[in-house]
Amino acid sequence: MKRVVLITGASSGIGRAASELFLQNGWTVYAAARNAARLQLQAELGAVTAICDVCDDAQRRALFGRIMSEAGRLDVLVNNAGYGEYGPIECVTDEDAKRQMDVNVHALAQMAALAAPIMRAQGSGRIVNVTSAGGRATTGFGGWYHASKYAAEALTDALRMELRPFGVRVSAIEPGLVNTGWEKIAAENLVKAGTRTVYEKTCRSAAGILSGSVRFKGLTQPLTVAKKIYHAAAAKHPRPRYLFGFGGKALVVGKTLLPTAWYDALMLKLYGSATERFLEKT
Ligand SMILES: NC(=O)c1ccc[n+]([C@@H]2O[C@H](COP(=O)([O-])OP(=O)(O)OC[C@H]3O[C@@H](n4cnc5c(N)ncnc54)[C@H](OP(=O)(O)O)[C@@H]3O)[C@@H](O)[C@H]2O)c1
Repeated sequence: MKRVVLITGASSGIGRAASELFLQNGWTVYAAARNAARLQLQAELGAVTAICDVCDDAQRRALFGRIMSEAGRLDVLVNNAGYGEYGPIECVTDEDAKRQMDVNVHALAQMAALAAPIMRAQGSGRIVNVTSAGGRATTGFGGWYHASKYAAEALTDALRMELRPFGVRVSAIEPGLVNTGWEKIAAENLVKAGTRTVYEKTCRSAAGILSGSVRFKGLTQPLTVAKKIYHAAAAKHPRPRYLFGFGGKALVVGKTLLPTAWYDALMLKLYGSATERFLEKT
């Protein structure tokens, strides 16, 4: 019997790499996202594609209904859809902040809530939440994103304790910086939020660093993240959390070990020198 996985945000980046890896390993893959054209590649590779905005309750329910009527089971849910609503806290609009929490937090929980009864009835299942190293340490100008990822971490921890007695395992995937389209969206949001404010100059330089990060040496590739997701989904002993990737461990270890004032000072120094380097080049 083929195992069945549902992956959200499968139209690009980490979700797309994960979809391909599960397909290569013989799984039935339900690849979900909003963008039909970008999902087409997954269909060509053999995935069952589904248009679903994870914030839309009717679409979420229809997707789970479809999976159960077609495949009759769901072994793994990969909650991966997400983005970065970057910007200084005072500049991010209420609407944008709510949307960030809706996609990265509420939708993740609602997807898990739909998967839980199915997996409980099966007596087995895995929920793999793609959070971030940024769910355990904060940098400036990403307050709402970090808040959403901290919340996703908390939800993952609670789900893990609640569902373990029913044979359902829950893991958090906590990558550092990964080479996807994520940084472009985060940089665009940062510029949008900062324009015509006191932060404009800093936001523009920080956005330049974010979008230029694709050129960083040793940047984590989506396949590396996909392999961690696959481990959480298929290994006999999945880990509760997978912290890895470019800058991820350094950030979290720094945050954990250093006094807060030192961590803040280090961040400001790193950020300041990166800004200076960026400004020198432009
Ligand atoms: N890249 C990094 O450095 C990094 C680091 C740590 C954690 N992460 C996390 O990894 C996850 C995947 O990001 P990525 O790096 O692969 O970025 P990406 O290439 O931009 O992919 C994000 C995916 O999420 C989907 N998505 C966004 N909003 C959605 C919505 N409302 N409903 C359904 N799908 C939605 C997008 O598809 P559509 O637009 O087609 O819907 C897309 O497939 C995110 O949760 C991100 O926060 C990324």
